[in-house]
Amino acid sequence: MSWGSNEHSLKLSEDGTYTAYSKEYDEHYHSTRDGALQESLLKHVLPAFKIKQSEDEINILDICYGLGFNTLATLYYYKKNNLTSKLNIYSPELDATLISSLKNFTYPEEFDEFKHIILELCENGIYNDDSFHIEIFLGDAREYVRKFKNRFDIVYQDAFSPSSNPSLWTLEYFSDIKNAIKEDGVLTTYSIALAIRLALWENDFIVYVNKEDGIRDATIASQKKLENFKEVDMKHKISCNPEAKPLRD
Ligand SMILES: C[S@@+](CC[C@H](N)C(=O)[O-])C[C@H]1O[C@@H](n2cnc3c(N)ncnc32)[C@H](O)[C@@H]1O
Repeated sequence: MSWGSNEHSLKLSEDGTYTAYSKEYDEHYHSTRDGALQESLLKHVLPAFKIKQSEDEINILDICYGLGFNTLATLYYYKKNNLTSKLNIYSPELDATLISSLKNFTYPEEFDEFKHIILELCENGIYNDDSFHIEIFLGDAREYVRKFKNRFDIVYQDAFSPSSNPSLWTLEYFSDIKNAIKEDGVLTTYSIALAIRLALWENDFIVYVNKEDGIRDATIASQKKLENFKEVDMKHKISCNPEAKPLRD
């Protein structure tokens, strides 16, 4: 398999799907242990759609597009479950070269039926049909998020790790996310770090554990109470870790 450049190389992950390694961030785009497709489905798409699938229209903010797994796994889940809502997906991404290279990326066969969508997104950054509206914004997610008010039902928070991509994990960033998400919207993220959960909690999100077989624990957050997810006792966590602080800009 060949794909990549000086900046990126292909990496086979544990579920048999390929992810990539970024030289700039010195990180893989997905957990190689959980697997690229598994991580996307189990940490983001499944928990979000357990909560949100009955709406006529679902607006999703996919932070950030990267290889596009979260967007594409959403389409896969939608088709597999015969959903009928209109899906609008908005996804910022800084790396224009990466996006245009994705037409040659080795995606899992689960995404085969979306080849035309992958191509449209690589070439034009936008795709439209009766079921899906997808937009990639080439630029800074911080700036992009501020364009929206009370808009999103789902936010996939999937930036590189807080240590290598800190601007997308701060208290101020999550304050902008709070403005952009609906009050009953749901945010999914792989991070279980207390500093990140604090940044959500101090912005009035209730924090839950996302536990699925086959992956490490992850986090779900919403300003509304969620059924069927275990709430993290943040007051207890803070009392055990009085020095803990959210990241700041
Ligand atoms: C972990 S990857 C995203 C993985 C992606 N969800 C997927 O399924 O492949 C993080 C992405 O964030 C992008 N990025 C980093 N900082 C950004 C920023 N401030 N605004 C927009 N994109 C950013 C990087 O270029 C990278 O593609």
